[in-house]
Amino acid sequence: MNRPFVLLSAAMSIDGYLDDATDERLVLSNADDWDRVDEVRAGCDAILVGANTIRRDNPRLVIRSQRRRARRVAAGLPADPIKVTLTRSGDLDPEAAFFTVGDGLKLVYGDLDEALADLARRGVARLMVEGGSTVHTEFLTRDLADELHLVVAPFFVGDSDAPRFVRDGRFPWTPARPATLAQVRAIGNVVLHRYLLSQSEVDRHWLTAAVELSRNCPPSSTAFAVGAVVVDARGEVITTGYSRETDDRVHAEEAALAKLDPADPRLATATLYSSLEPCSRRASRPRTCTQLILDAGIPRVVFALREPPTFVDGQGAELLTEAGVTVTERPDLGDAVRQVNDALT
Ligand SMILES: NC(=O)c1ccc[n+]([C@@H]2O[C@H](COP(=O)([O-])OP(=O)(O)OC[C@H]3O[C@@H](n4cnc5c(N)ncnc54)[C@H](OP(=O)(O)O)[C@@H]3O)[C@@H](O)[C@H]2O)c1
Repeated sequence: MNRPFVLLSAAMSIDGYLDDATDERLVLSNADDWDRVDEVRAGCDAILVGANTIRRDNPRLVIRSQRRRARRVAAGLPADPIKVTLTRSGDLDPEAAFFTVGDGLKLVYGDLDEALADLARRGVARLMVEGGSTVHTEFLTRDLADELHLVVAPFFVGDSDAPRFVRDGRFPWTPARPATLAQVRAIGNVVLHRYLLSQSEVDRHWLTAAVELSRNCPPSSTAFAVGAVVVDARGEVITTGYSRETDDRVHAEEAALAKLDPADPRLATATLYSSLEPCSRRASRPRTCTQLILDAGIPRVVFALREPPTFVDGQGAELLTEAGVTVTERPDLGDAVRQVNDALT
């Protein structure tokens, strides 16, 4: 399905509640965190909440900071993101702040798939989802979320009549295939956890780490600067390497794999991230990096840039694919690789 990038955002108590069971709105955050949320909102094209959140909390869903509003307008955007809600019952008060606050577009949908497809058609590239439980559960169990910002407030609610962050369901992230933790940050007395949920975001994260690693390469006028990171199925980095790390000829993938026992069982489910396509011709070594990856039994390779034909005509991607390896190319990160290899590409 063609859909926007989906960022889920929630604040919960230590015991996982989004609210208490009273009619009063429970404050789970602090001023600095609200300011962070305001910045995240300002970077999105639309904000979605479920109809029950509108009925219970009456949120305004607008950008508070005048500076951020002005920045959006200067960039040719509306001052506020589009407001979006989902309802089957249609039971929404036209006087709710959702409808009455702000001049921006307000959209009401009766179906999630229809909402996502229509938002994509309208050019919404980034959608922020701010709850409540039912809506978060639906996005997560249907694997429709790319990133999660989860804030934990330092107290308990302890009342199972209150809504939890999510309801029961089958979630794609399990102990065997966990989400990728990208960031943890204390904001005053609350803690922000940023999780990457979709394969695309996880790939971007590790490939960016590989590109960053390539900045450590000793300079060379005759070889590329490349970084490689190998991550197992549980999202743990099992080895890393970069060009010329251990001798002046060693390649990034070679340096990384040399640090592992070839019989390491984690290799069988690992993904190798390399800033550049693995080499397929090698004068100085008996085995190419493509061959080393095949010999290690790594089933998936992600790289940013095809090997530029500066030195040799690379066919690593084709050879790996022919051998049954899943190869993903991320040209969206190519500029960063070109920048590191400025003199050579
Ligand atoms: N702490 C936080 O970060 C945070 C953020 C937001 C909300 N909350 C809390 O979360 C609670 C609300 O959560 P909730 O689970 O009760 O409600 P919710 O997720 O806000 O809304 C659920 C409602 O959305 C509509 N809906 C959901 N999925 C739909 C779909 N696929 N198609 C059409 N309509 C759909 C339905 O509306 P109809 O019933 O109208 O059909 C459903 O009853 C409140 O207590 C609020 O304070 C906390």
